[in-house]
Amino acid sequence: MKQKLGANHPALDDVTLLVSELVTNALIHSNSRNGGRITLAIADCHDRIHVDVVDAGGENIPQVCEDIMFAEGGRGLMLVKLMSCAWNVYEDSAGRTVWFQVKYTREDSDLSCPRKWAHREAASRPEAAH
Ligand SMILES: Nc1ncnc2c1ncn2[C@@H]1O[C@H](COP(=O)(O)OP(=O)(O)O)[C@@H](O)[C@H]1O
Ligand SMILES: [Mg+2]
Repeated sequence: MKQKLGANHPALDDVTLLVSELVTNALIHSNSRNGGRITLAIADCHDRIHVDVVDAGGENIPQVCEDIMFAEGGRGLMLVKLMSCAWNVYEDSAGRTVWFQVKYTREDSDLSCPRKWAHREAASRPEAAH
Protein backbone atom coordinates (compact mmCIF):
# COMPACT_ATOMS: atom_id res chain seq x y z
CA MET A 1 0.00 0.00 0.00
CA LYS A 2 2.93 2.26 0.85
CA GLN A 3 4.39 1.65 -2.61
CA LYS A 4 1.12 2.43 -4.35
CA LEU A 5 0.06 5.51 -2.34
CA GLY A 6 3.39 6.79 -1.02
CA ALA A 7 4.61 6.65 2.58
CA ASN A 8 3.26 10.13 3.42
CA HIS A 9 -0.17 9.76 1.88
CA PRO A 10 -2.78 11.14 4.33
CA ALA A 11 -5.12 8.18 3.80
CA LEU A 12 -2.45 5.48 3.96
CA ASP A 13 -3.18 4.14 7.46
CA ASP A 14 -6.97 4.07 7.09
CA VAL A 15 -6.87 2.46 3.64
CA THR A 16 -4.28 -0.12 4.76
CA LEU A 17 -6.47 -1.17 7.69
CA LEU A 18 -9.65 -1.46 5.62
CA VAL A 19 -7.95 -3.32 2.77
CA SER A 20 -6.56 -5.77 5.31
CA GLU A 21 -10.08 -6.38 6.69
CA LEU A 22 -11.60 -6.93 3.24
CA VAL A 23 -8.85 -9.18 1.92
CA THR A 24 -9.01 -11.23 5.15
CA ASN A 25 -12.77 -11.53 4.69
CA ALA A 26 -12.36 -12.71 1.11
CA LEU A 27 -9.77 -15.28 2.30
CA ILE A 28 -11.96 -16.59 5.12
CA HIS A 29 -15.59 -16.18 4.08
CA SER A 30 -15.81 -16.38 0.27
CA ASN A 31 -15.41 -19.20 -2.24
CA SER A 32 -11.89 -17.90 -2.86
CA ARG A 33 -10.86 -19.40 0.48
CA ASN A 34 -9.43 -22.58 -1.06
CA GLY A 35 -6.82 -20.90 -3.18
CA GLY A 36 -9.22 -19.01 -5.46
CA ARG A 37 -8.46 -15.64 -6.96
CA ILE A 38 -8.75 -12.41 -4.97
CA THR A 39 -8.23 -9.18 -6.90
CA LEU A 40 -7.38 -5.86 -5.30
CA ALA A 41 -7.74 -2.61 -7.24
CA ILE A 42 -6.84 0.80 -5.81
CA ALA A 43 -7.41 4.17 -7.45
CA ASP A 44 -6.21 7.48 -6.02
CA CYS A 45 -8.88 9.88 -7.27
CA HIS A 46 -9.14 13.64 -6.85
CA ASP A 47 -10.11 13.71 -3.17
CA ARG A 48 -10.58 10.06 -2.28
CA ILE A 49 -9.14 6.59 -2.54
CA HIS A 50 -11.37 3.99 -4.20
CA VAL A 51 -10.71 0.31 -3.41
CA ASP A 52 -12.27 -2.82 -4.96
CA VAL A 53 -11.71 -6.27 -3.46
CA VAL A 54 -13.08 -8.95 -5.78
CA ASP A 55 -13.54 -12.57 -4.72
CA ALA A 56 -15.38 -15.64 -6.00
CA GLY A 57 -18.60 -14.93 -4.07
CA GLY A 58 -20.47 -17.77 -2.41
CA GLU A 59 -23.23 -18.44 0.09
CA ASN A 60 -22.04 -16.03 2.78
CA ILE A 61 -23.14 -12.44 2.26
CA PRO A 62 -20.92 -9.54 3.38
CA GLN A 63 -22.98 -7.77 6.01
CA VAL A 64 -22.20 -5.48 8.92
CA CYS A 65 -22.69 -7.07 12.35
CA GLU A 66 -24.52 -4.36 14.27
CA ASP A 67 -24.26 -6.12 17.64
CA ILE A 68 -20.49 -6.19 18.11
CA MET A 69 -20.21 -5.10 21.75
CA PHE A 70 -19.54 -8.57 23.15
CA ALA A 71 -18.81 -10.49 19.98
CA GLU A 72 -15.30 -11.80 19.34
CA GLY A 73 -15.33 -11.02 15.63
CA GLY A 74 -17.59 -9.05 13.36
CA ARG A 75 -15.74 -5.74 13.41
CA GLY A 76 -14.26 -5.68 9.90
CA LEU A 77 -17.24 -4.40 7.96
CA MET A 78 -18.26 -2.15 10.86
CA LEU A 79 -14.85 -0.47 10.51
CA VAL A 80 -15.43 -0.14 6.75
CA LYS A 81 -18.83 1.42 7.41
CA LEU A 82 -17.48 3.88 10.00
CA MET A 83 -14.22 4.91 8.33
CA SER A 84 -15.27 5.11 4.68
CA CYS A 85 -17.41 7.79 3.03
CA ALA A 86 -19.12 5.15 0.90
CA TRP A 87 -19.04 1.38 0.53
CA ASN A 88 -21.11 -1.39 -0.99
CA VAL A 89 -21.19 -4.86 -2.46
CA TYR A 90 -22.16 -6.06 -5.92
CA GLU A 91 -21.85 -9.18 -8.03
CA ASP A 92 -21.07 -9.48 -11.71
CA SER A 93 -19.29 -11.89 -14.04
CA ALA A 94 -15.95 -11.12 -12.32
CA GLY A 95 -17.26 -12.35 -8.97
CA ARG A 96 -18.30 -10.41 -5.89
CA THR A 97 -16.86 -6.98 -5.26
CA VAL A 98 -16.77 -5.26 -1.90
CA TRP A 99 -15.70 -1.64 -2.49
CA PHE A 100 -15.15 1.42 -0.34
CA GLN A 101 -13.95 4.99 -0.65
CA VAL A 102 -11.93 6.99 1.89
CA LYS A 103 -11.89 10.78 1.50
CA TYR A 104 -8.82 12.85 2.23
CA THR A 105 -7.45 16.37 1.79
CA ARG A 106 -4.31 16.79 -0.29
CA GLU A 107 -1.58 18.56 1.62
CA ASP A 108 -0.11 20.07 -1.57
CA SER A 109 -3.08 21.86 -3.11
CA ASP A 110 -1.03 22.49 -6.27
CA LEU A 111 -1.51 18.83 -7.20
CA SER A 112 -5.26 19.23 -7.37
CA CYS A 113 -5.13 22.33 -9.58
CA PRO A 114 -3.79 21.48 -13.05
CA ARG A 115 -4.42 25.07 -14.30
CA LYS A 116 -1.85 26.33 -11.82
CA TRP A 117 0.73 24.01 -13.34
CA ALA A 118 -0.16 25.13 -16.85
CA HIS A 119 0.28 28.75 -15.77
CA ARG A 120 3.72 28.05 -14.25
CA GLU A 121 4.91 26.16 -17.33
CA ALA A 122 3.88 29.03 -19.58
CA ALA A 123 5.66 31.54 -17.34
CA SER A 124 8.90 29.56 -17.45
CA ARG A 125 9.00 29.50 -21.29
CA PRO A 126 11.32 32.18 -22.79
CA GLU A 127 8.60 33.68 -25.02
CA ALA A 128 6.46 34.32 -21.96
CA ALA A 129 8.98 36.94 -20.78
CA HIS A 130 8.14 39.34 -23.66
N1 LIG B 1 -15.99 -11.37 1.17
C1 LIG B 1 -17.00 -11.96 1.86
N2 LIG B 1 -17.65 -13.02 1.33
C2 LIG B 1 -18.66 -13.63 1.99
N3 LIG B 1 -19.11 -13.23 3.21
C3 LIG B 1 -18.51 -12.19 3.79
C4 LIG B 1 -17.42 -11.49 3.15
N4 LIG B 1 -17.03 -10.48 3.97
C5 LIG B 1 -17.81 -10.56 5.04
N5 LIG B 1 -18.70 -11.58 4.96
C6 LIG B 1 -19.75 -11.93 5.96
O1 LIG B 1 -20.01 -10.77 6.74
C7 LIG B 1 -19.74 -11.05 8.11
C8 LIG B 1 -19.16 -9.83 8.79
O2 LIG B 1 -17.82 -9.58 8.37
P1 LIG B 1 -16.83 -8.86 9.38
O3 LIG B 1 -17.50 -7.63 9.90
O4 LIG B 1 -15.52 -8.65 8.69
O5 LIG B 1 -16.68 -9.87 10.61
P2 LIG B 1 -15.85 -11.24 10.75
O6 LIG B 1 -14.98 -11.38 9.54
O7 LIG B 1 -15.06 -11.06 12.00
O8 LIG B 1 -16.90 -12.31 10.86
C9 LIG B 1 -18.82 -12.27 8.12
O9 LIG B 1 -18.94 -13.02 9.31
C10 LIG B 1 -19.31 -13.04 6.90
O10 LIG B 1 -20.44 -13.82 7.20
MG1 LIG C 1 -13.76 -9.86 8.94
